[in-house]
Amino acid sequence: MEIVVVSDPLAASYLVADAIGELLSRRPEAVLGLATGSSPLATYAELIARHRSGEVTFAGVTAFLLDEYIGLPHGHPESYLEFIRRHFTDAIDIDRANVHCPNGAATDLPEACAAYERAIRDAGGVDLQLLGIGTDGHVGFNEPTSSLGSRTRVKTLTDQTRRDNARFFGGIDEVPQHVLTQGIGTILEARHVVLIATGASKAAPIAAAVEGPLTSMVPASAIQLHPHATVVVDEAAASRLQLLEYYRTTYSSKPAWQGL
Ligand code: F6R
Repeated sequence: MEIVVVSDPLAASYLVADAIGELLSRRPEAVLGLATGSSPLATYAELIARHRSGEVTFAGVTAFLLDEYIGLPHGHPESYLEFIRRHFTDAIDIDRANVHCPNGAATDLPEACAAYERAIRDAGGVDLQLLGIGTDGHVGFNEPTSSLGSRTRVKTLTDQTRRDNARFFGGIDEVPQHVLTQGIGTILEARHVVLIATGASKAAPIAAAVEGPLTSMVPASAIQLHPHATVVVDEAAASRLQLLEYYRTTYSSKPAWQGL
């Protein structure tokens, strides 16, 4: 893993935007895996700015979201499809038809999950998967004890995740209990995973994911299995890493997006 420690959330967003820009300059028809939630928002804002200045085009890109709530009415502003349209994809030149999301409104949810796996495979797999991390160590919505080999499926959110996400809704009672999420096995098939975490609330889960044992109790620790994982953290999120000084001297001056 590359652990890149930067000063603040804005610096993190520039680095992650660089990673995506570099990929698109090499591969304009890249497949991007997109996360929702607050962690990637500054990155999306930066990519929108770079698109507006003519630096980057998404015209050839296909995107797959990590997850979606089950049971929200069509067009609900906090459905992840609406979220990503509002915060990113409607502001760039990606074709709306190429922005894919698990169908949380399907009557046959297992079939919707299987269809999502097929769609990712048919697109040639994900080139770069953006990830955030939950305060309980989840990645996507793979909550603690998720199988490290799991595929896209229905999951039940922990109370901790529902509390964390209540800020997007009217309160915890309005946060759905169930979701569809890419599995950990699905996520690990992306060719490059880039996890972004900022703020003190992410210090403990980052330390557990990066330096703790590989365990389904910290689903994000599964990225230890990935041959090309980049973790971009600000000082606050990095503050509990034991090998912080090692990461600073090894990675901070030279993020190696092409792999080490
Ligand atoms: C969102 C997702 C989640 C979030 C995580 C962190 O698509 O898959 O794993 O990345 O819950 O959320 P924020 O960034 O809001 O702290």
